[in-house]
Amino acid sequence: MAPKILITRNVGPEAMAKLEATDFELIVNPVDGEPTRAWVLEKVADPEVIAACIMHGQPSDKVDREFLDAASPNLKVVSTFSVGFDHIDVPYANSKGIAIGHTPGVLSNAVADTTVMLVLMTLRRVEEGIRLIKDNEWPNLPWAPFVMCGPAIGHPGLTIGFLGFGRISECVVERLLAFTSKSSPPTILYSNSRARDNQAEIDAEFSSRFGVTVRRAEKDEVAEKSDIVIVLCSQSPATVDLVNAAFLKKMKNSAILVNAARGPIVNSEDLAAALDAGEIFGAGLDVITGEPKVYADHPLVKHPKCVVIPHMGSADYDTRNAMADLCVSNAIAGATGKPLIAEVKV
Ligand code: DGY
Repeated sequence: MAPKILITRNVGPEAMAKLEATDFELIVNPVDGEPTRAWVLEKVADPEVIAACIMHGQPSDKVDREFLDAASPNLKVVSTFSVGFDHIDVPYANSKGIAIGHTPGVLSNAVADTTVMLVLMTLRRVEEGIRLIKDNEWPNLPWAPFVMCGPAIGHPGLTIGFLGFGRISECVVERLLAFTSKSSPPTILYSNSRARDNQAEIDAEFSSRFGVTVRRAEKDEVAEKSDIVIVLCSQSPATVDLVNAAFLKKMKNSAILVNAARGPIVNSEDLAAALDAGEIFGAGLDVITGEPKVYADHPLVKHPKCVVIPHMGSADYDTRNAMADLCVSNAIAGATGKPLIAEVKV
C-alpha cells in the first residue's frame, strides 16, 4: 500500500491534480466543507498517513495536542492552507519530528486589498450608508452638506499606524499612498515586538523605498498619533488584547481601527465600548474573536460604526489557487523527505 496524504478540504482542481499526479494515496474529506473532528482524528491516526493538508480557523482542523497525539507515528508534515499558524501547536509538533508548512507571500496582495477596502469603508461610513438604504431610511435623510461625511483619506499630513509591519503591511502602504495627499504626504508609524540595533538604517530604507517618513514607534505613540491604525501582526500570547481599552482611549476620537490579522488581538468588548463612547470614529474588521460563531446580535456586528466581514482577506480566486498550490507542494515536499517550500520556524 502507498503512503497516504490526508486532505481535510478539497483544494480545487489544479492543486488536487498535483496531488493526484503523485504516487501517494489520498484521503480526501468527501464533504465540500468542514469535516467532523472525529473524522479528522480517525484519518490522521492511520499509520500510513505521512502528510496532512489542513485548513485554518476550523475547529475540526486544530493541530493541538489531541490531534498530534492521535496522529500516525509516521506523520512527517502538516501543511496549513494559511499564512497564520495560531491554530497549530508548532513546538509540540516539532518535538514529534513533524514539520509545519504554511503559505506566506502568495496572499499578501489580496489581504492588502481587503485591508484598504476596510479603511475606505470605515472612513466613508459605508456600513451606515448601506443600512440606511436597506432600512428604507434614505428618503428620510435630510440632505445637508455634512450628512454621511467621514474623514478624508487624502487629508494633509495624515499619520497611518501599523501594529506589525511585515509583507502585508508593506503592500498596504504601497496601495494607501495612491490615495493620500501628495503635497502633504502621510507619516507611517509602525510598532513591532522590539527595536533592532540598526533600526535607524531599517527606517531610512523604508522611508526611501516608500518616499515618505516611515519609522518604528512604541505602540502607545502609534495609538496617540495615528489617524488610521491597522492591525497586521501575528497572534501570539504577547499580542492577544494588544488593542484594549487603554489603547483605544489613547487613540484620537477621529481615528479609525482596522483589523485584518486575527480577532483576539483586538478586545471586542473594549472596542464596542470605545465605539459607543465615541472614543474612535469607526472600525473595520475582517477578523473577530469567536469567529465563525459570530451572529447578527454581536455588539460589533450591530454597531453602525463597525464594518465586519467574515475573514475573507485572501478570498480571491487567484490567491486561493496560489495558496492551494503552496499548501500541497509543502505536503508533497515533506512526504518525499525534501525541505518544505515554506516552513514555519518558531
Ligand atoms: C491566513 O492565511 O492566515 C488567513 O488569515 C486565512 O486564515
